[in-house]
Amino acid sequence: MKKLFYNISKLYGTNHRGTFKSGAEMQQLNVVDNAWILVENGIIAAIGNAEAEMPSEVMERVDLSGAEVLPGFVDSHTHIVFAAPRHEEFAMRLAGASYEEIAANGGGILNSARKLQAMSEDELYEQAEARLKLMLAHGTTTVEIKSGYGLTVDAELKILRVVKRLKQHYTCIIKSTFLGAHAFPVEYKNNQQGYIDLIINEMLPVIVQEQLADHIDVFCDKGFFTVEQTAQILTEASKYGIPAKIHANELGLTGGVQVAVEHEAWSADHLEHCEENEIAAFKHGFSQNYGGTMPVGLPGTSYFLGIPYAPTKRFMENGLPVALATDFNPGSSPLCSLQTIWALACTQMKMMPVEAFHAITCNAARALRLENEVGSLAVGMRADFVVTKTKEAIKGIPYFMGQNHIEATFVLGERI
Ligand code: NIG
Ligand code: FE
Repeated sequence: MKKLFYNISKLYGTNHRGTFKSGAEMQQLNVVDNAWILVENGIIAAIGNAEAEMPSEVMERVDLSGAEVLPGFVDSHTHIVFAAPRHEEFAMRLAGASYEEIAANGGGILNSARKLQAMSEDELYEQAEARLKLMLAHGTTTVEIKSGYGLTVDAELKILRVVKRLKQHYTCIIKSTFLGAHAFPVEYKNNQQGYIDLIINEMLPVIVQEQLADHIDVFCDKGFFTVEQTAQILTEASKYGIPAKIHANELGLTGGVQVAVEHEAWSADHLEHCEENEIAAFKHGFSQNYGGTMPVGLPGTSYFLGIPYAPTKRFMENGLPVALATDFNPGSSPLCSLQTIWALACTQMKMMPVEAFHAITCNAARALRLENEVGSLAVGMRADFVVTKTKEAIKGIPYFMGQNHIEATFVLGERI
């Protein structure tokens, strides 16, 4: 099945297959003017820019009427399987309580877990599906989804089965991450090792058996999991060959980045608290054979909780790559759109529009080690792309914040 998309005024992100960009490279934009894309069985077969070269054989042809086209956005960090918003905590925080105080009093993640445990798998599926559709409509075509609002064997498995069903029903790439180590349940408050044993002995083996997780995650931070506890869990997961993606340094300088790099994690996410030692650890990671740990900033969390933004500019000045994600969740970032993240990255983190564009496309793909499939538009990669009528889209999308600039989303060359 061949399909030709033509009359594209600008085609952005036409990097070589497998590209991710570090430091100053993040400023370099590849764009083809007056472009066309030939898609064969969902994969890009050719890209061109002169009418004369346009394939002329009879095939399905789609006139994009002079619109601009970008790679589908990649959201490498979300928690979209949850039961309910936390409006009451929002009000408490607005009245002055901190995220950590609310969590220490049994709110936060534990609040979400109580609600999720009581909800059926079908209802969770419906809600998560609605959120996924919203994300697709906002241009996201690859999504990572974490568990972590279950915190019991049954409830963690329930979440991961919901994600498995989404994978079966949707053509976009969905990746699952087991985050049983998101918080200590109340009954393990004085027996933390007991909960870690539950994760290692009761949850992980079933998850591996049922192939429910592509990665493992731990909330390694002040008041949550220590570096030693994180190391213990990651060591067990590595015996099954499950790669790590870590929540690190949201609340303090607790060694999360260092333990992520030591365990060859694919990414360390949050990073609101990062100093020279953390930057040095990331640099060390990229000098190693495993391919480095991608720093992932989550500006939606900083915005919603009123905490510092990850110093992504400093990462880039140090020659590091940077990715950005929504962290879509009910507690710290109820944000579905990577377009909003793009805008926040510019206004709050002072990233240039083009740098932030790479952070939500090719570099985000790298955070999932999917840069050979998505994140750039090149021959051999998936025809996952978005169409916008916004002129000069790389500058225009983060500038006109709060609108949905996406006219159409294509996955494997099909409009969804
Ligand atoms: O990434 N930081 C840990 N986990 C989530 C939010 C958890 C919550 O408050 O529900 C995050 O921000
Ligand atoms: Fe998160």
